[in-house]
Amino acid sequence: MSIRKIAVLTSGGDAPGMNAAIRAVTRAALSKGLEVYGVYRGYNGLINGDIFPMNLRSVSDIIHQGGTMLYTARSPEFCTEEGMQKAITTCRENGIDGVIVIGGDGTFRGAQDLTKRGLPCIGIPGTIDNDISCCEYTIGYDTAMNTCIRMVDKLRDTAQSHDRCSVVEVMGRRAGYLALNVGIAVGATAILVPEVPFDFDRDIVQRMKMTSSTGKKHFIIVVAEGVGGVMELAGRIEKETGIESRATILGHVQRGGSPSVRDRILASEMGYYAVELLLSGKSNRVVATQNDRIVDFDIESALRMKKPFDFERYHIAHEISI
Ligand code: F6P
Repeated sequence: MSIRKIAVLTSGGDAPGMNAAIRAVTRAALSKGLEVYGVYRGYNGLINGDIFPMNLRSVSDIIHQGGTMLYTARSPEFCTEEGMQKAITTCRENGIDGVIVIGGDGTFRGAQDLTKRGLPCIGIPGTIDNDISCCEYTIGYDTAMNTCIRMVDKLRDTAQSHDRCSVVEVMGRRAGYLALNVGIAVGATAILVPEVPFDFDRDIVQRMKMTSSTGKKHFIIVVAEGVGGVMELAGRIEKETGIESRATILGHVQRGGSPSVRDRILASEMGYYAVELLLSGKSNRVVATQNDRIVDFDIESALRMKKPFDFERYHIAHEISI
């Protein structure tokens, strides 16, 4: 089937760089003579026909902006057969031959459902969690890491002034990649992630006491959202070590802000690549990075893959943060 008209949407949690990806998809498609529709609020927009034609200027001045100009949503209705059929009908009625979706693994499941119902789809990974197994770097991850270290550096200033321990929660419900990289980059005394079991006494209390004995007076503990409980943890640390402790949840500030150079370039290349995939007759593929190169995988096998946790990096962080 030849592709003449495509649609682009963002779905799930937003990530800095999504706008740069929308821009790349739109401009690449228009350059190649295709028509492009923008879809508002993820799969909900396809269900409700909330779509609009895009031109070269529709995506001007967004490359540097966080968030997504197409808005985003998680769509329970799309998980039903009726919802999916409504989405297909919107595409048929508007002559849309292919859809490029930008988001995380839930978004890719949606793309797979549409492809199975006869509408070719390509996924672009956009999530600050970096939890797409086939992809080394997802759009938004680099910006979020940089946002986190800027925030934790500020927390360090005040922890240092007061000789305190700062317990910081970063995002990542099921994955500790963000926590690991932020933890090593801020020199955290301990990094707690869902992937590695921890012992409160050995990994925090004894470690803090040992480093205190060499003169260390302030501490940073980075905790992944999936581990959680930072308020309680700070209270326990204070009780067991006698070191005043404060908890901070960085929260949604991590999802905003102007994308980094790395995220802008990644988003631009991935957006372009996704259009080329559709044009070459491919569907049900997810764009990814491997060894710093843009590649693509079948969505189904990509969703089955498991991303290894970097235990070596975790070990290095542990050994040098003393
Ligand atoms: O998947 C991205 C993410 O930011 C996770 O790290 C976090 O657990 C979740 O989204 C939060 O989702 P919401 O914005 O719906 O609260």
